[in-house]
Amino acid sequence: MQSFHSAKERFGVDVCVTNEDLTKAPECPHGPMLLFERFFKDGRSPRRFYACSASRDRKDCSFFQWEEEKISEARKKAHKEIIKKSRLPFIEACHKYQSIFESLDNLQRKKCLFCHSCGLLFMPKEKGKHRTHECEQAGDLRKPTVMMRPRENEKTQAQYFFSRKATKFIASLFEDLGFKNVLCVGTPRLHEEIQCSRQTSDGHLDSLLMDVDFRYAQFFPSSKFCLYNMFNHFFFESVTSEKVFQDFLRREGLVLVMDPPFGGLAEVLAHSVKIIWDQWRKVNSDEFKDKELPTLWIFPYFMEPHVKAALPSLTMLDYKVDYDNHPHFKSKNMKGSKRGSPVRIFTNINAADIVLPAEEGYRFCKSCNRYVAPENIHCGKCNGCMSKDGRQYVHCEMCGKCVKPGLEHCMTCDRCDLKGHACKR
Ligand SMILES: C[S@@+](CC[C@H](N)C(=O)[O-])C[C@H]1O[C@@H](n2cnc3c(N)ncnc32)[C@H](O)[C@@H]1O
Ligand SMILES: [Zn+2]
Ligand SMILES: [Zn+2]
Ligand SMILES: [Zn+2]
Ligand SMILES: [Zn+2]
Ligand SMILES: [Zn+2]
Ligand SMILES: [Zn+2]
Repeated sequence: MQSFHSAKERFGVDVCVTNEDLTKAPECPHGPMLLFERFFKDGRSPRRFYACSASRDRKDCSFFQWEEEKISEARKKAHKEIIKKSRLPFIEACHKYQSIFESLDNLQRKKCLFCHSCGLLFMPKEKGKHRTHECEQAGDLRKPTVMMRPRENEKTQAQYFFSRKATKFIASLFEDLGFKNVLCVGTPRLHEEIQCSRQTSDGHLDSLLMDVDFRYAQFFPSSKFCLYNMFNHFFFESVTSEKVFQDFLRREGLVLVMDPPFGGLAEVLAHSVKIIWDQWRKVNSDEFKDKELPTLWIFPYFMEPHVKAALPSLTMLDYKVDYDNHPHFKSKNMKGSKRGSPVRIFTNINAADIVLPAEEGYRFCKSCNRYVAPENIHCGKCNGCMSKDGRQYVHCEMCGKCVKPGLEHCMTCDRCDLKGHACKR
């Protein structure tokens, strides 16, 4: 078993990502739970427990079990029943949504309404059922992210949609690099963009969406959407949707793109990425034996150490990924933060091949052999373009490296820090 310590400082709790089969862990409605370790300040020895992978808020999912807890057969059975029942709403909703999808013809699609309270599409004749709910004309059913209200709970689903610019950039990047099929994990807006251009003649890409939000089942057929938990690589309707995923892995020119909730633990997500890579190798020929599935993982720049620790082959690009509905993750000219969005792309694709848009000021640095942000000036002493947070870093001779602007070198702490900080001596 491998244990990582990144979360320890934050929560007094550490996640244990196992190399063993996750399916051996006890389950909650969101699939196998993850093993955590709790540390105590008073020196008691740490204790391990299982808790929900998808939600860190006990209010959303209260399942919990100490690792060493002995569960009687009777309790196990009762537990199974509860899980089956609690999962039913997800699966039923998914089936209900899928049957809605299949039942509509083109004319009906134009007349559909959407109920925000129920998360449901419906025909005008069913208006009565949603009389007291918040409803509106559904609009273009090919673009659910435009109509659906995002679930903005940081701790659980955190749905922030890419800006138009970011969506176009990522989709055309895939085309330029010659990919043909995109596995969209938690990227519904990208999926709908790809599916829309497929219907017109200019799209050459195809995609499969894997997301935990079952509302998408009413907009895409089951061959284009899997109800999936990315924190434990769990398929809610295991057999059918996992088969859709497995078949998609066999397609040529495959690329994985994942945009998880930013509160997600990197080591846990990386574990799922590794499972996907493994399965991709397994279903394909020997030629992929030593390869990694080309991957784009979208995550904030300050998570770089965690991402790199978990998946060392990924490098961080300078491209700033903007979002429509996140107050801090917009570009400068869209009234976002001054430094632009803190969200970046981590990838195992050769950075030199990823051309960042010149019209936004990105340029090629010959020495670094990659495209860099306008504010990222090459440092001859560090021998790299070192800026990361959207501001131009400055080289500190005493630290021997580039640091964030506005800091002062402190002799006591022997590093650069804010003026007036409390020295640790
Ligand atoms: C930060 S948003 C990314 C959306 C993306 N920027 C887009 O515009 O297409 C996170 C996405 O992950 C999904 N998600 C959240 N928790 C998940 C989980 N446990 N498993 C799979 N998907 C999840 C959300 O429903 C949402 O679509
Ligand atoms: Zn759960
Ligand atoms: Zn309703
Ligand atoms: Zn450089
Ligand atoms: Zn430097
Ligand atoms: Zn310094
Ligand atoms: Zn100091």
